[in-house]
Amino acid sequence: MTRETAIELCELSKSFGQVNIIPPLSLKIPKGGFCVFVGPSGCGKSTLLRLISGLEAPTSGQIYIGGRDVTALDPSDRGIAMVFQNYALYPHMTVAQNIGFSMRVANARKEDIARKVSEVADMLRLTPLLDRKPKALSGGQRQRVAIGRALTKGTDVFLFDEPLSNLDAELRAEMRVEIARLHADLGATMVFVTHDQTEAMTLADQIVVLKDGVIQQTGLPLDLYRDPCNRFVAGFIGSTSMNFLRGEVRDDILHIPGLGARLPLGAAVKLPNGQFDCGIRPEDIQCRVPGDALTIEHVEDLGGVAFIYARTDAGERLIVEHRGKGAIPRNGRISVAFDNDDVLLFDPLTGLKRSQRTTGHVSLMA
Ligand SMILES: Nc1ncnc2c1ncn2[C@@H]1O[C@H](COP(=O)(O)OP(=O)(O)OP(=O)(O)O)[C@@H](O)[C@H]1O
Ligand SMILES: [Mg+2]
Repeated sequence: MTRETAIELCELSKSFGQVNIIPPLSLKIPKGGFCVFVGPSGCGKSTLLRLISGLEAPTSGQIYIGGRDVTALDPSDRGIAMVFQNYALYPHMTVAQNIGFSMRVANARKEDIARKVSEVADMLRLTPLLDRKPKALSGGQRQRVAIGRALTKGTDVFLFDEPLSNLDAELRAEMRVEIARLHADLGATMVFVTHDQTEAMTLADQIVVLKDGVIQQTGLPLDLYRDPCNRFVAGFIGSTSMNFLRGEVRDDILHIPGLGARLPLGAAVKLPNGQFDCGIRPEDIQCRVPGDALTIEHVEDLGGVAFIYARTDAGERLIVEHRGKGAIPRNGRISVAFDNDDVLLFDPLTGLKRSQRTTGHVSLMA
């Protein structure tokens, strides 16, 4: 293991009874990195974090933190601070005592504890609440105290399990920026579980996409967005899911019957004849309203942007992100256009990405 690796998981697996939740999995998280686990509910994100923290024992495999094999160590000996989905504050202590708890246990000087607590409380906007007990706090305030308590632990590895999930949208956005700043200031290694696409895309320098306990792809957020290795990652990364339409290659021409599109494959693209799933992101589709190619079924108009749920005459659904002004008629029709190289092709059986198309523009605008 090189010195630059903060956390290394080697063939780590976890079963609960007969049920195998995480098949053997290996992963390296660089020192100072911000690693985000994403994946559908129940895929094993929290379990993986609990394994790293020591709250759960692995069925097999090893965990290294800072080059040390910590697999058999207690959570308190692993040199980590954590904030979990079900954080527990000490109910009999005030906010200030909760935040300063680990420093008191470590026999830090009173002035140092007071300074650190005040600094952390200020950052988390908890200063007016320092004398309250947890029962007199809202869920979001408690969550911030739990984050504050982790920050005073003096470790350089932080594990967060959806720490912002109880906050309102505005505070969540502020805390996202704070956590990014904290990460930059502390140079700490952070491992973060979230369902929030914005958090994953903006905080991570390494996203790990999990499905059924198996790592599907690991990489920079934009690499996963632009170049997903399979249909699952393509559909999972992106705040509005990628559209998938059935297509067929015949003699170097891709036909997408739902859109009535016929796209010659670029000279560099060699694909056998056969069926493919064609992925196009809602934000990569231009649309004209009204038009005549697809039927509008539903519209989510957020003011600055609208999501149009349309259906092709072949019955396939296509979501289009539309930034035009003016009302969108329900049950009307739209026309669409997109660049060829925004269409990704996936094998319909294995889901693996087959090819990115070459350049060109497809317009179904009449
Ligand atoms: N102690 C346990 N005993 C048995 N099964 C468990 C236990 N803990 C978790 N599981 C199961 O392991 C699977 C993964 O759970 P986990 O909490 O890691 O999912 P998650 O990805 O964090 O989901 P979510 O996004 O909903 O928080 C789930 O099917 C869950 O029911
Ligand atoms: Mg979870």
